[in-house]
Amino acid sequence: MKVTIFGSGYVGLVQGAVLAEAGNDVVCVDVDEARVARLQRGEVPIFEPGLESLLRDNMRLDRLCFTTDAAVGVNHAELQFIAVGTPPDEDGSADLRHVLTVARTIGNHMQKPRTIVAKSTVPVGTCDEITRTVGQVLKDRGRDDLRFSVVSNPEFLKEGSAVSDCRRPDRIILGVSDEHAEDLLRELYAPFNRNHEKIIVMGVRSAEMTKYAANAMLATKISFMNEIANLAERLGADIEDVRQGIGSDPRIGYHFIYPGAGFGGSCFPKDVKALERTAASVGYEAALISAVEQVNARQKQVLFDKIATHYGGANELKGRKFALWGLSFKPNTDDIREAPSRVLMEALWAAGASVTAFDPVAGPEVGRLYGRRPDLVLAENKYDCLNGADALAICTEWQEFRSPDFAEMAERLKQPVLFDGRNMFLPKRMLGQGWTYHSIGRGAAVSKTQESLRLA
Ligand SMILES: NC(=O)c1ccc[n+]([C@@H]2O[C@H](COP(=O)([O-])OP(=O)(O)OC[C@H]3O[C@@H](n4cnc5c(N)ncnc54)[C@H](O)[C@@H]3O)[C@@H](O)[C@H]2O)c1
Repeated sequence: MKVTIFGSGYVGLVQGAVLAEAGNDVVCVDVDEARVARLQRGEVPIFEPGLESLLRDNMRLDRLCFTTDAAVGVNHAELQFIAVGTPPDEDGSADLRHVLTVARTIGNHMQKPRTIVAKSTVPVGTCDEITRTVGQVLKDRGRDDLRFSVVSNPEFLKEGSAVSDCRRPDRIILGVSDEHAEDLLRELYAPFNRNHEKIIVMGVRSAEMTKYAANAMLATKISFMNEIANLAERLGADIEDVRQGIGSDPRIGYHFIYPGAGFGGSCFPKDVKALERTAASVGYEAALISAVEQVNARQKQVLFDKIATHYGGANELKGRKFALWGLSFKPNTDDIREAPSRVLMEALWAAGASVTAFDPVAGPEVGRLYGRRPDLVLAENKYDCLNGADALAICTEWQEFRSPDFAEMAERLKQPVLFDGRNMFLPKRMLGQGWTYHSIGRGAAVSKTQESLRLA
């Protein structure tokens, strides 16, 4: 089938490449000329495992191409996907500017019937707004004879495993209001729906709501666990034992109950805020959703608070140097949107400390964001990062941080002090090797270990 996708970011690019791999003829449209030029040369502007070869293979087979020419995109296919960004507005609600710009673009250029598919995460009611927008443009053009419909088809891929998530989606949500659009999308997704039925058809508003409900539920699990971790720490319990204890209950499960330094990324923080704003717009106070956000904002301060407490207060951090491992909001991506590492770095800088940071892929993004500044050095590797630093903090659980050479680390740091925002190591082992080890929610583990060391 022929497909056009507006927006070549994490979602549009991956979806476009995976649909091309399935044999479709895909045109990707983006307004960012530099990005499109790079893509046309086969260069992937984001880090996403498996994406570069997939992109190049399909470009070579002429199944995937990139353009800034919206008219080409609109005329290419009946199926018009919208996968542009929906960043948070100043008040936290979703900024629909880009989505509605694409709607107007489609309305302006369409010469034949079109099925518009909203893949961007958009608040309930947005597909109706897209319908009104396109309808108005067609009316202004004197072409309100042209048929079009708008489908909600939210995306659930995870950065870091986006290619495999798109190849093997666990569900395909279709919010449709007409049979023709449903048939078209069923045909497009048929290759992804062979193993078992994954397509769930519902009303447009329910589909829009499903995406927010899914993200809010996952964010709630994380904030809940962080809340329990903070309590565990104060009550002498070990959150890692508690996590195993509750995860074994199949009604709870092991996923998304890892305590840490707070959730970040391009989706959870903005989607939780947008849902809160949507609720407010209909006069409903979404108390739980607001709390999820508040707990997360506080959690992102936890590492800094631990550092400040360790050194006797924030005033004692001036002139100190901290090593930081992990900048991306999670492993296997270079995305630093809303990353906890940024909150920590900014707090350390505000306290007069400097940071030397290492991340396997996100260093250049951080360099672009903060520019050249004397209190930020981006290290080439994880060990160089430590040289002469007062302590190490970990914000992202990259695989390559899991089994480091602790002796070499201790040698390079001024003191073997570690603030672990992802609970990567065993407190007993760390303390046994002479480290001062701060992690999240493990009051019991630390006191138990100190006790056993004293007895030994
Ligand atoms: N990133 C994720 O993990 C993820 C997962 C599921 C859903 N989503 C949702 O998907 C949407 C896209 O997210 P993303 O992370 O891919 O965003 P992104 O910021 O990585 O990419 C958006 C792209 O859209 C382009 N764009 C903006 N206006 C345009 C226009 N008028 N015409 C053509 N292109 C235009 C931008 O130049 C950019 O390249 C968002 O609504 C997001 O919430 C994201």
